[in-house]
Amino acid sequence: MTKDNKWSLYEELSHVEQRRPLWETLADELAPERVLYPGSYVDILPSFVFRNVTYVDMDRRCPAFFAGDAVQQRVPYSYQFIHGDYRDPLDIAPVDLLLSQYAGPISHYCKQYVRPGGHLLANNSHADAGVAALDSDWELVGVVRGSQISRDVEGYFEPKPGRVADREEMIESMMPIGYTKTASNYLFRLKSTDNAHDE
Ligand SMILES: C[S@@+](CC[C@H](N)C(=O)[O-])C[C@H]1O[C@@H](n2cnc3c(N)ncnc32)[C@H](O)[C@@H]1O
Repeated sequence: MTKDNKWSLYEELSHVEQRRPLWETLADELAPERVLYPGSYVDILPSFVFRNVTYVDMDRRCPAFFAGDAVQQRVPYSYQFIHGDYRDPLDIAPVDLLLSQYAGPISHYCKQYVRPGGHLLANNSHADAGVAALDSDWELVGVVRGSQISRDVEGYFEPKPGRVADREEMIESMMPIGYTKTASNYLFRLKSTDNAHDE
């Protein structure tokens, strides 16, 4: 595979460019120094906005992509790539922002790498926002409207009639349940150590 062919893996991800305004909003509002993106595949776009991103993915195509000259020549900021399973222990310093996009229950397995007061941006495609909403360590502090973050979080994560929100079941199945009120992405804050285990 040539260097340019490695970059073409990214170009095939036509949907990810749409998230650039949201990453810019998060950069403006949270100013995260360190970002963790498990299940990234080859979505390198955050490294055009955030200054230090660690990517984790187990796909066999990722190591060559992230190590390739085509990527390193384009990306303006520092990044690291870990080829592995995010459910396994990872050698990662505490981060300010955890990204969870279409890649399973990251809020559960990678919460340990977020500093107290740090944030999680999750969608619910693989039920991860629902998993986080049932985790008392995470507090819902925003919902994404377009590329903006609304701080009006009332009424979210109430199951539709007949649906049951079972955290363990959602982690296992990665299947979202229906809620009466939804958003494209949800912003959670990790509670401080003092009250993180309040039930
Ligand atoms: C549907 S893709 C999403 C890619 C990217 N987040 C996006 O929004 O375009 C899911 C990715 O998560 C990765 N993945 C799923 N489970 C994983 C795990 N336990 N550890 C590491 N990577 C995982 C897969 O290898 C795949 O590349």
